[in-house]
Amino acid sequence: MAVQISPSILSADFARLADEAAAVSNADWLHVDVMDNHFVPNLTIGLPVVEALRKAAGTPLDCHLMIEDPDRWAPAYAEAGAGSVTIHVEAAKAPVRTLRQIRSAGARAGLALNPATAIEPYADLLGEIDMLLLMTVEPGFGGQRFLDVVLPKVRRTRELITAHGGQVWLQVDGGVSAETIERCAEAGADVFVAGSAVYGADDPARAVDALRALAEGAAG
Ligand code: DX5
Ligand code: ZN
Repeated sequence: MAVQISPSILSADFARLADEAAAVSNADWLHVDVMDNHFVPNLTIGLPVVEALRKAAGTPLDCHLMIEDPDRWAPAYAEAGAGSVTIHVEAAKAPVRTLRQIRSAGARAGLALNPATAIEPYADLLGEIDMLLLMTVEPGFGGQRFLDVVLPKVRRTRELITAHGGQVWLQVDGGVSAETIERCAEAGADVFVAGSAVYGADDPARAVDALRALAEGAAG
């Protein structure tokens, strides 16, 4: 289980996205939060920005779609060259079909669950996905406080993944920082999204290294 860090550009300077991407070239992924003001009460960026960023950034894009109707839009993000495309179970109407379309377009397929959504009903979908994303805040905004209430679900999800063969990555997103990342890693997460903890730091690249070292130290 290798630790991976995915800085969220939601906390970056949107007027200088290429520079902000380059500032974390030591990260494994660049996390792109797509919000539509319907699934979540916030509006961010969409396909044209993802297409532009893919050309400008040297780091693969980890697109997190917080949108209604991901079945309609997700394949286009994979076709636009995102390395990973994650849809929410609360929004998808045909998740199996959409996840398969993401994979056939050449991207890794991710499934995201809000803090109050249980993992158990989706256990049979582990074979359809490359990553499971557990939200550790209610989605919509950066800089929120980490929800410890999600940690037992992180543990249960890791057990399910191990029983399934261990190929699926387990991502946590929301409030991940130097204060909380060790708890997430101990519970079994291996991919860590961090927005304010990276882009709010004086030196974002050093923040990435520091988070990675803490997670590696705590991982089982
Ligand atoms: C929240 C987004 C997160 C957000 C995380 O809805 O999905 O990716 O950028 O920001 P921090 O790390 O500041 O909680
Ligand atoms: Zn996100």
